[in-house]
Amino acid sequence: MPKIKKAIIPAAGLGTRFLPATKTVPKEMLTIVDAPIILYVVEEAVKAGIEDIVLIAGRGKHAIEDFFDTSYELEDKLAKDGKDKLLERVTRIRDKANIISIRQKHALGLGHAVLCGLPIIGKEPFAVLLGDEITMEANGEPNVTEQLVKSFEQTSISTISVMKVADKDVSKYGIAEVQEKSPGFFKVTSLVEKPKPSETTSRWALPGRYVFDNAIMDILLNAKSTLNGEIQLTDSMKLLCQLQGLNAMTFTADRYDAGDKLGYLQANIELALKNPELGPELSAYIKELVKRF
Ligand code: G1P
Repeated sequence: MPKIKKAIIPAAGLGTRFLPATKTVPKEMLTIVDAPIILYVVEEAVKAGIEDIVLIAGRGKHAIEDFFDTSYELEDKLAKDGKDKLLERVTRIRDKANIISIRQKHALGLGHAVLCGLPIIGKEPFAVLLGDEITMEANGEPNVTEQLVKSFEQTSISTISVMKVADKDVSKYGIAEVQEKSPGFFKVTSLVEKPKPSETTSRWALPGRYVFDNAIMDILLNAKSTLNGEIQLTDSMKLLCQLQGLNAMTFTADRYDAGDKLGYLQANIELALKNPELGPELSAYIKELVKRF
């Protein structure tokens, strides 16, 4: 039975729809309510049983690796600012997982970022969680990565998450063409990166959670760059789907594209509404506010 114990978290590139990242504050370090985006993503991986987390970061992303490092200055500051809940969360992660950081020397796309994790992944299967997407489990169900890991461990076939999107959003995502095997569970027949809505009949988009057989690494090693000189993960997944098969599954979790302006605001509002300390007051405020707009 294959076990998934390793994950790659690529930090996002600087796409146009993203929030501006500066050299010192990468957007993964922007706060959603009371913790940086990256902490939510790492927590999802750890809850799914991942023990080695490989952060792939480019220039100017030191703040991400520093955040997970033992830092007397940070810990002293968190304690002094009364942010010890955040400190507890970081410490819990450090106790359960190894956080390993690898520098992506050239911004050559998501496929290349995943390939940068090869020295740690070796010959094992692994998960990929995009560093600017947050998913929060709903209705007491396992989180998205946990569900993908379970599917892979049962079938030995790479499995990715998919979500239905509106026509206008098709060109923002990798899109999977699928055949439904059982409710919410699909065989992927093809994939296309950011097509025009007219170029595919599928509306099943990839929200950035994947579990791969190690074969994807060999495919990426031989991949040629395409769109904008980048190595697209989606192209290599298309080949994986032809060579070995690829499954896809939907999820009930709430998902936020925290690297997008609207998604970032939505994540803050919804997670603050669910927060026992902030929720009641914020909810009353929003009810009053909507009367004015
Ligand atoms: C990347 C992937 C795309 C995926 C998306 C999810 O694109 O290339 O397949 O659907 O993340 O957010 P990006 O958003 O980095 O342009």
